[in-house]
Amino acid sequence: MKEIRLNAFDMNCVSHQASGLWRHPRDRSDQYHTLQYWTDLARTLERGLFDALFLADVLGIYDVYGASPDAALRNAAQVPVNDPAMLVSAMASVTRNLGFGLTATLSYEHPFPFARRMSTLDHLTQGRIGWNIVTGYLDSAAKSTGKAQQSSHDARYDIADEYMRVVYDLWEGSWEDDAVRRDRASGVFTDPSKVHRIRHDGKYFTVDAIHLSEPSPQRTPVLFQAGASRRGQQFAGTHAECVFIAGPSKEIVRKTVASIRGQALIQGRRSDEPLIFSLLTIVTAPTHEEAWAKYEDYKQYIIPTIVWPDSRGTHRFKNVIHRMQTIL
Ligand SMILES: Cc1cc2nc3c(=O)[nH]c(=O)nc-3n(C[C@H](O)[C@H](O)[C@H](O)COP(=O)(O)O)c2cc1C
Repeated sequence: MKEIRLNAFDMNCVSHQASGLWRHPRDRSDQYHTLQYWTDLARTLERGLFDALFLADVLGIYDVYGASPDAALRNAAQVPVNDPAMLVSAMASVTRNLGFGLTATLSYEHPFPFARRMSTLDHLTQGRIGWNIVTGYLDSAAKSTGKAQQSSHDARYDIADEYMRVVYDLWEGSWEDDAVRRDRASGVFTDPSKVHRIRHDGKYFTVDAIHLSEPSPQRTPVLFQAGASRRGQQFAGTHAECVFIAGPSKEIVRKTVASIRGQALIQGRRSDEPLIFSLLTIVTAPTHEEAWAKYEDYKQYIIPTIVWPDSRGTHRFKNVIHRMQTIL
């Protein structure tokens, strides 16, 4: 029997995918800055037997519409946006099985501190953390950190490949399984001969250090990826255990899935190894009619003003209403 795996999809902000829906009388998403909002959500998802909560993130603002961030700010289109990593320990403390797919861009942080943060979360969640590997798609994020613009599309994936080599080494190669003894009698907490320095001198990153965290339950977190371009799928085929796709029809989803599976084969993995999650917005209600009525009600609140850069760095208008497919 085939099992369907379900991830919820949210973001540490007011309007994740549906700008304007925060104005709905039953919407609570403007409480995103409270722990209670997230612990309630985590409990609900666990009760509903969800596999994981996938948390999106951006480190910049949508500022191309009208050459200004005003529309994004006015409509709370993924801004204000808080750091998603901070939510995970609180949600883990009120759940036992729910996984967390944390989006983190590798373009603005050296792999050394990042690897430690993920190891910490893997310890605190007892092995329930995943990482959605993104390189970012906003020039505004690059500008925030002193760059004129992002690196080019394929170069971002080249940098990502090297980043992965560094974090794999830190997570997998620095501490042997039995390095930590916790031996009160002999006074040895860690056997230094079983902890190894990671030396990496690459094109983009240099590391000469011991990983600071002891081995966590998974060591390497579950790896998610969502790139849809040829180079993105090549990267996913190499690294991703879970691939997140957004397809507007079954035919497109089928083609994308076949292509990702083909890439996994090319990269020396089994074609069915990556788990693939397709984005859907589901509206539930006791009857079909009530579900449609609910959908129509939600739709009135949507503000479709958002301009999204595509994979080629150009900008296209996305009417968010079209993203709200209904499955009953
Ligand atoms: C369903 C889905 C979710 C995504 N979530 C994020 C995200 O939270 N943060 C982010 O920076 N990029 C996100 N992306 C963008 C991808 O990581 C990637 O940068 C983008 O698809 C461009 O890469 P590509 O040209 O290989 O497709 C998402 C993409 C998809 C399809």
